[in-house]
Formats: sequence, C-alpha cells, structure tokens
Amino acid sequence: MPTKLNYSFDELMAERYFTKRVTRAKNMYHGGLDADGKWIPPRSLHRIDAINAWTGRLTDEGHPSKVLFLEDLPDTFFPNAPQAKHLLRNGATGAMSGILTLIGVVEGFGNVGLKMFPRDPLQPMFVEDLDGTCMAHLDPLFAAHGHDEAGSDYKGFHECGHDEMWYNIRDAALDNPPVPDDVFKGIPFSPPPGYAGQATPSGDAKNKNAFAGPLAEGIPPSLDMLVQAMMSLLAIELIAYTTFNWASDVLSDSTCSKDPEFAARSVGYIADDETIHVSYLQCALSEMRCRTVIGENGQKLSGQIIIDEAVERARANQSGLRIDRVMKYRMKEIEQELAAHADGDKLLEEFRALGPMPEMAA
Ligand SMILES: [Fe+2]
Ligand SMILES: [Fe+2]
Repeated sequence: MPTKLNYSFDELMAERYFTKRVTRAKNMYHGGLDADGKWIPPRSLHRIDAINAWTGRLTDEGHPSKVLFLEDLPDTFFPNAPQAKHLLRNGATGAMSGILTLIGVVEGFGNVGLKMFPRDPLQPMFVEDLDGTCMAHLDPLFAAHGHDEAGSDYKGFHECGHDEMWYNIRDAALDNPPVPDDVFKGIPFSPPPGYAGQATPSGDAKNKNAFAGPLAEGIPPSLDMLVQAMMSLLAIELIAYTTFNWASDVLSDSTCSKDPEFAARSVGYIADDETIHVSYLQCALSEMRCRTVIGENGQKLSGQIIIDEAVERARANQSGLRIDRVMKYRMKEIEQELAAHADGDKLLEEFRALGPMPEMAA
C-alpha cells in the first residue's frame, strides 16, 4: 500500500511512460499503452497511488471509504443491448449514432461543470487537520479529471478526452455515420452553467438543475455547493458503468459493429479512466463524512449528516423524471428513424418484443 500522502499539483498531473499511443483517423487518445498493450490511464504516474493511499488511510482509521453505491442507482440502459443490436443489424444507425454522440457530449459537460466547482480553501471550514488527505488535493484532481473528460494539449499535440473518444468509437463502430446538427438540438438534459458548446436543451429539460436548498443549516455556502456538485458528479460517474457495459456488449458484436475490436477496447479504456474519478470522489466525500464542519457562525456541524443528505438528494435526482425524459427522447428518435425505414413497422414490433419501452404520451 503506498504511504506518501502529500503530492504537488504537477505530481498529480504527471504522465507515466507510454510505449505506444492509441490513434484513429489522426485522432490521438489521452493515456497510452505499456509494452504489453495494457491501457495506462492519463495523468496516472502518481494519481492512482495517491488515491489508494488516502483511501487506505481512511480504512486504517476505521472509516468507510465509499458514500454512494452502484446498487443505489438505476442500472438499466434503454434501448437494451438486444434492442440496440436489432436496430444496427437492420441498418437503422441514426438513433444509435445520436445516442453515442450525446454520451460524448455529456462527457464534455463534466469538464465544464468541474471548472465551476467552488475552490475555496477547505481547511478553514473543518475542525480536523486536512494535511495528507484527498480533500486537500482537490485542485489538481479536478484539473486532471476535467482533462480526462474533455481532452487537452500535451507537448503541442491535442489529446482526445472521453468526449472525442466516444465520437471515435461511434465512427469506428458505425462506419462514420453522418452527424447532423439536429443531434445537438433539444437534448434531454441541461448543460452545466458556463457551457459554450453547440448542444441546447429541450424546453422541458431547461432549468431542471434547480437548487434544492442547503444540505444543513449554517453550512458555508461554498462547501454546500461543492458537496452537492461532487455528489451528483459521483452519481453520474457510477451510472456510466451501465453505459460502458451496454456499449461494450453492443459495439463488440461483429454482426452490428464495423470495428468491434477497436470499439470494445476504447470503451474499456474509458471505463478504466472513470475508475479513478469514482475512487477520488468517493474518498474525498468519505473524508468529509467523518469530519466536523465549522458552520457560518462557528457552530459545529456533523459531516456525516451533511454527506448523507447529499447522498439522498443525488439518489432522488437520478431517478424519476430526469431518467424518464432521457428514455422518451431516445424512443422518439428511434420511432422517427423507423418511420422512415422500409420495414419500419415490422422492425418496431420486433424491437418492442426485445425489451421494455418507455411509456409515450399518445
Ligand atoms: Fe468520462
Ligand atoms: Fe468521469
């Protein structure tokens, strides 16, 4: 178990040695491969060891090192893998191309959201010493995470982050499908504040990121915002594993993917990178949970109560209306595509028989 607990910004951004880079159509992925062809996530010379060390410290001190679990979150993907394969095998690639594009768009949102996270020093807001904790290293961890999601430049070369990696997966698996501008219009979720890209939300997705009030009375507002933002990001990162399993299953199938090997491998790379995001968010939030917050008037607030309230809200946010909106949006895209297909009615019936469909308004 690594024991070094304090790292500089540059150490947490440092790269390991890559024997080979992964490229497709002149696009170079971040990270790389070792001599055995195994994936090395970006900025992982020290980052993984550091997170393991902080997590190990928590466990050694008898504290839980996770706050949110996969079992607490939705674990189904629509269209399910048989439904998605059915569409692709019958040449209906439009809706699937749109779904993969929007997965990439949402990855890019991650970087925009991270840039808006409050960065006030945390030590004045906690009773206990934060030296040698994950909480004390959030600046470089957020910076590295943002680059992972949306790419960055390294020594004069652009490296694709997860957003562009998904676009490459789409283009490899679906043989460079057309991506009309419409794909980015009226999407079923709101971009984070500060987003300047081409995606625009549908009318019913606007302003759905409403603030539900502070997690506890007297909590410093910047800590409140930070905890809520980190918890909802953690929920999104965990739910992403369902997407990875689905994409891996569908796009590694040679009967419906033009480049099953590359697509499956690329999804695996992204999943490996996301493990870093999940583990540092779990660790930092767990550290906060076993500490005492200094409230706005100097009162002592339980970290446990604050974090547990944030968990409840994140769970509630990831179910119900929001998911419903996304499912219905995908169903509408699929129906529209099949309506223009020569065998559309038959394909839709078969699609229906392969799994549940969202209830659509008449
Ligand atoms: Fe990602
Ligand atoms: Fe991530």
